[in-house]
Amino acid sequence: MTVEQNGESGEEKIPGLIRNLISLVGAVIAVVGAANIAFLVFIDYLSTRPNPYIGIFGYMIMPGIMVFGLILIPVGMLIERHRRHTQAPSQVPRFPRIDLNDTRQRRTVASVSAFIIVFVALSAAGSYRAYEFTDSVQFCGQLCHTVMKPEYTAYLQSPHARVACVDCHVGAGAGWYVKSKLSGAYQVYSVIFHKYPKPIPTPVANLRPAPETCEQCHWPNKFHGDQLRVFTHFGTDEKNTPRQIRMLVKTGGGDPNTGLPSGIHWHMNIANKITYIATDQQRQVIPWVQSEDSRGHITVYQVKDALTAEQVQKDAKRRMDCIDCHNRPTHIYKAPDASVDEALLATRIDPTLPFIKQQAVTVLSADYKTTDEAVKAIDKDLNAFYQSKYPDVYSSKQPQIRQAVAEVQRIFQNSIFPEMKVDWRVHPNNIGHFYFPGCFRCHDGNHVSADGKVLKKDCDTCHTVQSQVESGKPLMQTAQGVSFQHPVDIGDLTAVNCADCHTGGVGP
Ligand code: HEC
Ligand code: HEC
Ligand code: HEC
Ligand code: HEC
Ligand code: HEC
Ligand code: HEC
Repeated sequence: MTVEQNGESGEEKIPGLIRNLISLVGAVIAVVGAANIAFLVFIDYLSTRPNPYIGIFGYMIMPGIMVFGLILIPVGMLIERHRRHTQAPSQVPRFPRIDLNDTRQRRTVASVSAFIIVFVALSAAGSYRAYEFTDSVQFCGQLCHTVMKPEYTAYLQSPHARVACVDCHVGAGAGWYVKSKLSGAYQVYSVIFHKYPKPIPTPVANLRPAPETCEQCHWPNKFHGDQLRVFTHFGTDEKNTPRQIRMLVKTGGGDPNTGLPSGIHWHMNIANKITYIATDQQRQVIPWVQSEDSRGHITVYQVKDALTAEQVQKDAKRRMDCIDCHNRPTHIYKAPDASVDEALLATRIDPTLPFIKQQAVTVLSADYKTTDEAVKAIDKDLNAFYQSKYPDVYSSKQPQIRQAVAEVQRIFQNSIFPEMKVDWRVHPNNIGHFYFPGCFRCHDGNHVSADGKVLKKDCDTCHTVQSQVESGKPLMQTAQGVSFQHPVDIGDLTAVNCADCHTGGVGP
């Protein structure tokens, strides 16, 4: 550090240039920074559960502080030299004379060079760790508690809980890496200055195309065939009547080499290239769809009079990929209706409590300002309901009621986030058509091609019902798959939108 401790050729000893306030402060800062880094790296190494704060301090803030201190040292020395030169130009020359024949100077140069080499090597290792760290789930999910809490909480309970955020949001390749770090820097800024929107909007503006993310793990040509799905619901009546639908979803897939070319994946992903125009931000209104088959034959399906030819010409078109159907593969904010059905099925909530389905969905769907407020209200309202309407049940089933309250509170904390204004209503789930338009955005019977082909809503296009059971008794049972039988008569099912009545909250 002290290359010109002795500016002149050595006879009379003048105090080293480093002895100035700025350099000394710099040295202290650098030492404190280095000690902190060493300590944090040591803790990071010992801890089994990575902590985002250790990462951000150990690999980002402390190295920054240390480098700042190191820079202050030569800056102080330059200022000091300038001061001495102005005072006595004859004794202290304008620029240092470096003379490698002088043993002292030679040693100093050697130790400074050694320091620089070690420092560069260590900071390379440190930068790599910082790079790894900014790509980690801890960094993305935990660092800004409030902001990412909804996404992170939902993620932790999803099929992709073990997939790193960056595998879907960044993907491989230097270009996307830089792009994501630049927007990431902006995001850090917006968090610090509270500039972020609530809720964080989707679709994510520059989410990478699915072939470069999802399809790195999932093989689009995989043959799924028909998959049996069992849907269980509980009614809003006193007995919480259970209703079960078993059906084969024609997921299909496959190219001719892996299975029968048929089903949802085949038509939508493999045989055809589908592009569409959405007129809203969330891609819920889709009046124009084009399908191009493997031979390049194009069919355009349009809702009559929805768009002018000019609009079709200039509106942005999106190529349909996995995310247009599977838009909630990991941030799944379940609707209260679905969460409570699941809890009843698993008997985490006792299904013999009268009206528990209806009451649980009602308290979950109310508006709350904070999670705390909701947790208290759930306790108060459920207890009050049984106390006033079912005093016998209230006294005889205390443990069950207490368990129900705890479970409903847990559901709230895991799927509804008043602080970030996020719940099931904010991010529609496009798979299916029960709570949201989903498939019916296009398959609604109103999208017609020039030669009269229709994207049909027929109930057997995508699945066949195998059986339906109510309170354990079969409603109907067929081998050849009769269409779905709605529990209450609402007329022609292809003429309605399920999501108009089934909102996921209070209601059917
Ligand atoms: C399996 C892939 C996948 C993983 C893993 C993943 N995401 Fe997402 N994320 C998505 C998709 C898909 C969307 C919605 C994209 C759209 O509709 O444009 C999304 C949306 C988001 C949004 C926008 C708000 C919202 O809820 O839709 C945020 C914020 C987000 N992700 C953060 C994260 C964080 C933080 C992690 C890691 C803890 C993570 N994501 C992990 C696929 C993923
Ligand atoms: C890093 C690898 C990886 C990436 C990237 C990935 N997935 Fe997955 N995905 C998996 C694994 C592993 C499973 C199986 C999880 C299980 O069954 O426990 C899975 C399961 C699924 C399932 C079935 C979910 C269920 O309910 O069982 C769907 C649908 C899916 N992924 C869609 C997507 C989509 C869409 C994307 C892109 C946004 C994506 N995946 C990105 C690894 C990945
Ligand atoms: C047209 C909409 C659509 C598109 C596009 C689509 N899928 Fe699917 N996918 C479905 C449906 C519907 C199912 C059956 C889901 C169910 O029954 O819950 C399914 C099932 C799956 C499953 C199996 C889930 C399970 O439970 O076993 C995986 C994995 C999957 N899709 C991945 C993908 C990937 C990867 C892509 C993109 C290459 C993709 N899907 C594109 C609609 C689509
Ligand atoms: C963006 C519009 C759009 C959305 C959303 C959409 N589809 Fe499609 N789908 C199409 C088009 C266009 C075709 C017709 C392809 C062709 O010309 O053969 C099609 C064809 C199909 C077919 C073959 C139909 C037949 O009559 O043979 C199935 C099955 C299918 N889609 C399932 C689904 C499912 C399940 C969903 C929801 C998860 C869905 N689609 C969502 C546009 C869409
Ligand atoms: C374009 C494809 C498509 C068409 C047309 C379609 N469905 Fe579905 N439906 C789906 C998919 C995909 C799911 C599975 C969603 C999931 O896995 O969560 C589903 C799920 C369902 C369910 C179970 C929902 C639940 O959560 O309990 C019922 C009931 C149902 N469909 C009835 C119908 C009826 C009635 C019609 C005719 C009006 C119809 N479907 C037309 C694709 C379709
Ligand atoms: C006009 C309003 C309305 C429409 C539209 C509607 N439903 Fe329903 N649905 C109801 C009512 C009311 C119930 C009975 C709720 C109860 O018993 O608690 C019900 C019950 C159900 C159930 C039994 C599960 C439950 O929550 O009790 C299923 C499954 C169902 N509907 C599916 C569908 C499907 C699929 C569609 C679209 C094709 C659809 N519904 C459209 C009003 C509607």
